[in-house]
Amino acid sequence: MIRTNEKAYGKLNLSLDVLGLREDGYHDMKMIMQTVGLCDEITVTLGCEGRKCFCDVAHVPQDERNLAFRAAELYLARCGKPKEGFDIRIQKKIPMQGGMAGGSADAAAVLRAMNTLHENVFSMEELMEMALTLGSDVPFCLMGGTALAEGRGEVLTKLPTMPTCFVVLVKPEFSVSTPRLFAELDKAGIIRHPSTEDAVQALEDGNLTALCQYMENVFEPILAREYPVIHALRTELLEQGALSARLTGTGSVVFGIFDSLEKAEKAYQEMQSKGLETFFTKPV
Ligand code: C5P
Repeated sequence: MIRTNEKAYGKLNLSLDVLGLREDGYHDMKMIMQTVGLCDEITVTLGCEGRKCFCDVAHVPQDERNLAFRAAELYLARCGKPKEGFDIRIQKKIPMQGGMAGGSADAAAVLRAMNTLHENVFSMEELMEMALTLGSDVPFCLMGGTALAEGRGEVLTKLPTMPTCFVVLVKPEFSVSTPRLFAELDKAGIIRHPSTEDAVQALEDGNLTALCQYMENVFEPILAREYPVIHALRTELLEQGALSARLTGTGSVVFGIFDSLEKAEKAYQEMQSKGLETFFTKPV
């Protein structure tokens, strides 16, 4: 048996714009994506009997319904080993159904782990192509760092590393259906598009304050109409000294960006003491 470990980093949308509905049913996106230190831990073992995928959190599917399982199947099929056994263990830390691409990050980590266990037979380009067949966010999760994501989310342009900052995340109790929120956005239309170019320029200038000023997510006003807690959490984070507080992806996680460790730690403690599911992390 051979085994390897991989970290599956969660992502935040520093900015998220939807440009329009495509003929294939997906939407053209323009997003600034950022991986954060908050990660799942993945262990992949090959050469065992059967195909298994265990997660330390209840109710996570252990079969094809789990994207990590499908990533392993896909990789082995591409290697011409459709029968080889595997065992995947997932230690979950990324809040689930929060807009942080936890499932996509696990799938990307499995592709990386599989490639390590196969002496990197596939190039990054080949892995990227496999990643997109698994989901729109998987290519970014494979690449990591800071990037502009266009197309379905797979047309990636590397951006300068985000200036040093601290992130406080809150996961409200409700979860959101991504297709439903896209459908609502199509119906409602977008009144205000983020200035993605200005946000990119701020990253190029290494200017955290300007970046925070241009951070926006077109799903946020739509979701906040239904769940006022989104605005309440944003307000709370801003009052605690966050330079910006936004929804990530289609939610429901709300995150605040701080330039001061002290303020971020205080905000983290404050939100946690209110019984909210709260996390502290940094960009990676
Ligand atoms: O690609 P993925 O399976 O993660 O997408 C989940 C759903 O999100 C899609 O079925 C679609 O409804 C929506 N989506 C979209 N446009 C994108 C990405 C996702 O409409 N670029």
